[in-house]
Amino acid sequence: MKKLAIFASGNGSNFEALAAACTEGRIDAEVALCVCDKAGAYVIERATKYGVEVLVFNPKEYGSKAEYERLVADRMDTLGIDLVCLAGYMRIVGDELLGRYGGKIVNIHPSLLPAFVGAHAIQDAFDYGVKVFGVTIHYVDQTLDGGKIISQVAVPYEGGDIEELEAMIHKAEHRLYVDTVNKLIE
Ligand code: GAR
Repeated sequence: MKKLAIFASGNGSNFEALAAACTEGRIDAEVALCVCDKAGAYVIERATKYGVEVLVFNPKEYGSKAEYERLVADRMDTLGIDLVCLAGYMRIVGDELLGRYGGKIVNIHPSLLPAFVGAHAIQDAFDYGVKVFGVTIHYVDQTLDGGKIISQVAVPYEGGDIEELEAMIHKAEHRLYVDTVNKLIE
């Protein structure tokens, strides 16, 4: 069975969507590792609930990005990770991870890329007056929310309630991530 590592920095609803799909047999893979760069992030609780090993690190305790990425990549090598899914991992991936897992790292982003990169994509698009929002899954390279696009879904919304919009986008993310991971591990 294929093994996934999921990287997250916060809430972890996309982590949970993938972990639930694996547990329920909707994805033919196992979530073997959760990588988190923030102690106390809610994703750690979610991973523990699913019995998934968690590797938490504090980037400030390392001399460089390469140092903590080496630790993460070594653990992934030991576990035999096939695919790395970034799910709200708010860091640029560096050369160490790209060198060892390049082409096997994907990211989900809550906009129709290349529009609205960055950490506040939904708010930025909403403030801009966008009428068709969306979600993108793409291969990861060394640029912010860059890399070749794998899949996208549009989320049309003309209302004025950002919380309602966020809920719609997150729902679309969870569906798209499960479908896309399924295609990638085929
Ligand atoms: C998701 O909306 C994801 O697309 C976004 O962070 C959120 C994490 O939510 N990622 C980015 O903005 C990457 N630039 P979650 O922790 O509930 O899965």
